[in-house]
Amino acid sequence: MNRLDGKIALISGAARGIGAATARLMVEAGAKVAIGDVLDERGHETAAACGALYVHLDVTREADWTAAVAAAAEQFGGLDILVNNAGLFLGKGIEEASLEEWHRLAAVNLTGVFLGTKHALPALRERARLSAHGSAIINLASVAGLVGSQNDPLYSMTKGGVTLFTKSAALEFARKGYRIRVNSIHPGLTETDMGQQTFVARARNLGSNDIDAVRRTALERHPIGRLGRPEDIANGIVFLASDDAAFMTGTGLIVDGGSTAQ
Ligand SMILES: NC(=O)c1ccc[n+]([C@@H]2O[C@H](COP(=O)([O-])OP(=O)(O)OC[C@H]3O[C@@H](n4cnc5c(N)ncnc54)[C@H](O)[C@@H]3O)[C@@H](O)[C@H]2O)c1
Repeated sequence: MNRLDGKIALISGAARGIGAATARLMVEAGAKVAIGDVLDERGHETAAACGALYVHLDVTREADWTAAVAAAAEQFGGLDILVNNAGLFLGKGIEEASLEEWHRLAAVNLTGVFLGTKHALPALRERARLSAHGSAIINLASVAGLVGSQNDPLYSMTKGGVTLFTKSAALEFARKGYRIRVNSIHPGLTETDMGQQTFVARARNLGSNDIDAVRRTALERHPIGRLGRPEDIANGIVFLASDDAAFMTGTGLIVDGGSTAQ
């Protein structure tokens, strides 16, 4: 189940967090994996620890995408899987956020997903022609791309965009006969650097420094009784990338401990 033997993957923003866990699980599932990030030192460490290739990749820069896809193709022979994972969180209300902050957030969370999809497309199409079930793109959206976020409406706007871009890209590629499935994954609160940033932002919005209290409140909103771990999300990504998800495209997998079920 969920094997990726013989497949080649590129994961953006994978120096740490969900992306790094995904790289590790994909290698364990038999894939050859390239990871890209702007955190070069951490990225090299992560890649070395799990047997992946590291490439410098700022997802907002077209030239970086071209080079990253070329590096994966040169090293491994093509590309079957793209994970658009890199993302930023802002944690500010509409009145507090500046135009520059919005532009930065949109550049990484939206433009980055568009550019990754566009520049990985030729390599994904090429390998799709040779494989039984085609290639796969997995976009990291969020529960904040499905329901509103009182703490970060601008982040929510970007993730809502990723949710519908996923469906539209799936339809466009199907119409064109590319054999590339496109799906999103919607994590709930997950214990990463970004997860920690959300606690700090929630506390600040409450006018408090009590991160533990904010954490306890967040925990209470998760019926399953704990917050997400990077591996919880990575398991879902590996599934969507695998041929076990061959009949899934244009949809979203919610991995949130039940937080949006209520
Ligand atoms: N942690 C959560 O609670 C949570 C919940 C829902 C969705 N997500 C989404 O999951 C994805 C991974 O988040 P995470 O929790 O692992 O966060 P994280 O902050 O630990 O990791 C994000 C990674 O993206 C990288 N990155 C940022 N800007 C980049 C750029 N311009 N180019 C390339 N890489 C860049 C960072 O350096 C970092 O390594 C994000 O898209 C995030 O929005 C996270």
